[in-house]
Amino acid sequence: MSSIPEAFMSGFFRGYYRYTAFLNRLVRTADINGRPFRVLPSVCKPLGNEQVIVDYIPSGKNVLEVGCGSGIITLYAAMKSKHVTAVDVSPDAIENTRANLAAQGIENVTVFASDCFESVSGEYEVVISNPPWMDLELDDPNRQWASSTKLIPSLFRDSGRFLVDGGLLAITCPAAAKQKLLELAQQGGFSLVSTHPREKRKDLRVRLLTLLYLQVGFHPLVYVFQKDGTAAVVGPDQQHSGTTH
Ligand SMILES: C[S@@+](CC[C@H](N)C(=O)[O-])C[C@H]1O[C@@H](n2cnc3c(N)ncnc32)[C@H](O)[C@@H]1O
Repeated sequence: MSSIPEAFMSGFFRGYYRYTAFLNRLVRTADINGRPFRVLPSVCKPLGNEQVIVDYIPSGKNVLEVGCGSGIITLYAAMKSKHVTAVDVSPDAIENTRANLAAQGIENVTVFASDCFESVSGEYEVVISNPPWMDLELDDPNRQWASSTKLIPSLFRDSGRFLVDGGLLAITCPAAAKQKLLELAQQGGFSLVSTHPREKRKDLRVRLLTLLYLQVGFHPLVYVFQKDGTAAVVGPDQQHSGTTH
């Protein structure tokens, strides 16, 4: 990226994070399947059926989520998993996820701060993530939910060290990112298993909010990759979890 567009992008995103914090203060919850879900001002507001990703991971496994935000994906993953480890670089996201899980009485989750995989240990059958999609790095850890140069490459470069052979990496990214993801997957030792649409029909209020948050035109997909290995010990769910969206 040349310096002029980078300066422009950086200015735009600083303004965007202030603007969305203002919106989050005005509308403090996201509506998830008819239930209010608290979202702090500096945290990513789930508006696009983010939890659908969980339909494509197997049940009863040890799961790592990188970039948990408000905890929406963590919550749905916890309901079908043995244990979920949820990490985020943002201190506000960690606080938000802990509060939302406590409010729902969810106990099979460990939540802690980590820049990508820096503080992660252990072994998992599944890594899941809804990473930031815009290729820009700002200094503030609470301003990384829409923009990061690091997380997507790290998912493919680093998750293999924490996944069992044949383990899954399920991420949600725009349809237009497919080629870039395939290249990163090849370099990281992953194969694409399947892709799935993420968006479902939204009611008028959510459509309006999506517009206000400028989250339009991305056509997000769920991409399920498998770590290349000798033994494929897990596979994506053949039967979906029955989540309604
Ligand atoms: C698009 S938001 C998704 C949040 C939540 N999972 C959801 O689906 O609503 C991306 C999340 O990744 C986190 N993130 C960005 N860069 C990160 C990094 N280097 N390490 C860990 N988490 C990071 C952000 O703070 C943010 O919470």
